[in-house]
Amino acid sequence: MVNPVPVVKDVVFQNLLDDPYPSYDRIRNLASAVWVDSARINLVTRFDDIMEVERNHAVFASTNPKSLMNKVMGHSLMRKDDELHQIERKALEPSFRPGVVKKHWGPIFSDIADRLISAFEDKGEADLFKDFAGPMASYALIELLGFKSDVAWQDISLWSQSLMDAVGNYSTDPGITARGKAAAGAIETEIDRVLGYHTENENPSILSSIAHAEHKHSIEQIRANVNVVVGGGLNEPRDSILTLIYGLLLNPNQLARVQKEKRLFATAFEEAVRWVSPIGMYPRRVTQDTVLGDTQLKEGDQIGICIGAANRDPSHFDDPSVFDINRPRQQHLAFGGGPHFCAGTWVAKQMVGEIAVPMIFDRLKNLRLHGSRPVIENGWVFRGPTSLPVQWDV
Ligand code: HEM
Repeated sequence: MVNPVPVVKDVVFQNLLDDPYPSYDRIRNLASAVWVDSARINLVTRFDDIMEVERNHAVFASTNPKSLMNKVMGHSLMRKDDELHQIERKALEPSFRPGVVKKHWGPIFSDIADRLISAFEDKGEADLFKDFAGPMASYALIELLGFKSDVAWQDISLWSQSLMDAVGNYSTDPGITARGKAAAGAIETEIDRVLGYHTENENPSILSSIAHAEHKHSIEQIRANVNVVVGGGLNEPRDSILTLIYGLLLNPNQLARVQKEKRLFATAFEEAVRWVSPIGMYPRRVTQDTVLGDTQLKEGDQIGICIGAANRDPSHFDDPSVFDINRPRQQHLAFGGGPHFCAGTWVAKQMVGEIAVPMIFDRLKNLRLHGSRPVIENGWVFRGPTSLPVQWDV
């Protein structure tokens, strides 16, 4: 039976930030799409419904003239569909090909991880958020973009956070919008500084790929897509580094297995991003009246695709809240689906699952959670540990 979208008024926004999973379970049991008052959007939480949305971008479009993302970052590929999207996506591809990632970016990521670990490995304790995962993802992104190492990791980290805060600023707080625009301005200055170099010297960086694309990009297109990469290419690898380390530290038997059989780090990475998906939700716009599962949607409705919830849908995953690298290999949605499937997937797999996390466990002997400082996790649109205190033997 098809029903109008039910309205839920008692999901507290802070609860979504602290731990969204109980709310997701409740919403998933209610209907295919549920209006959640505190989030001001219709949330879609079931795996099969999300697959249907991702297969039909004519009805569930990424293009959205009212998008907050467009206002802060400019009109990037993420808010385009069909040919306009494909042209800009193709421009990025040379930097993200699996061979380029392995041969070119792999050694660069290894050097960054090595340098960071060397700076604290004799200390016996660290917060892996600020001492490792944050700078690791930031330095990697500076290299990937082609900012030529002149940007401080704290700066790009702040720009990324400010952009994402502004994109998710549904309460329209003017301070958050202003910080997002300031970040976009700083990124613009950085692009202006290095674009000439990349135009004259073709190389694997993202700015070079865009500058040499078959379809010539306007400066606005370049800025918008670089903003998307700054916003979307930092916190996800950072958060998945931490989630993977946390998942393994909570499960010593699984850790022992991956340490014995190093190729299993790649499997463990997939399980980590299923377990706590770094991007928990992204939006789509309904272009015509349509039925999704058991729910009637109307033209113009905004829907929030909760991949963080779909990746814990019990109709697809046994014991979905458990981190288990031994579960059967199954498709998950942490990198999205359809035409906007994450462009940086191979970068993330290489950086996190092949380099940063194996190196941490290799170098820090008897790595364990800190005896007296708690792990803190936060977020639902973006989720991951914001503090991961650990200790090891020195
Ligand atoms: C574990 C790490 C990562 C996860 C879980 C992740 C997840 C995602 C998801 C779910 C989307 C789809 C969003 C949507 O459809 O609205 C996406 C898109 C995208 N991601 Fe990632 N991402 C990760 C790492 C990266 C990295 C490292 C980069 C670049 C350096 C990157 C660049 C992009 C870009 C450019 C898009 C837009 C693709 C398009 O619109 O065609 N991502 N990512």
